[in-house]
Amino acid sequence: MRIDPRMLRTCLGHFATGVTVVSCDTGDAPHGATVNSFTAVSLEPPLVLVALDRRTRLAGYMEGRPFTVNVLGSRQGGVARHFAGTAMAADSVAWERPDLDLAPRLAGALATISCRPWHVYDGGDHRLFLGEVAHFDVHGGEPLVFYRGRLGPLGPAHQAAPWLESGDGPELSWFPFSA
Ligand SMILES: Cc1cc2nc3c(=O)[nH]c(=O)nc-3n(C[C@H](O)[C@H](O)[C@H](O)COP(=O)(O)O)c2cc1C
Repeated sequence: MRIDPRMLRTCLGHFATGVTVVSCDTGDAPHGATVNSFTAVSLEPPLVLVALDRRTRLAGYMEGRPFTVNVLGSRQGGVARHFAGTAMAADSVAWERPDLDLAPRLAGALATISCRPWHVYDGGDHRLFLGEVAHFDVHGGEPLVFYRGRLGPLGPAHQAAPWLESGDGPELSWFPFSA
């Protein structure tokens, strides 16, 4: 089968994801880019992954630097567009920097996951950045979803019954956010 990159992209777009802005320092101002390739990798050690197009500025800045994954909420579609290259008013983006050893984070995100660089792998025209989680915060709320090229709220699926055997629910004792 000959793989047409555009058709493959359309096919992959049927996999619904959340939306993040991945941020890091540049030595000057903070830099962020919209990323939906964020994946949880390991709990012990705590590792996460993002796949970045080699042509993005973020991929260059992230070499050897800490980064933060900012999980966007359903009302942050404008923020996602801004960090995907559609500039919007600068005052709608506010950076926070609670720890100078870690990357800046976005105010108003559903959750932030701050990482130290762990390893970078070759991923074809992308680079695969693994980070070791050094700090995380959960603020909660409804997530922003990316599906077939569109950004929107999760909708009724949000209220669906959890799959108890998923190993990912708050009813399990090891779940990181259970009370
Ligand atoms: C919903 C969405 C998800 C995206 N996910 C990724 C991604 O996972 N990896 C990537 O390299 N670019 C992704 N992009 C594209 C980047 O956000 C875009 O190329 C950005 O302008 C890069 O910024 P920079 O070159 O200033 O770092 C995504 C864009 C959108 C709108």
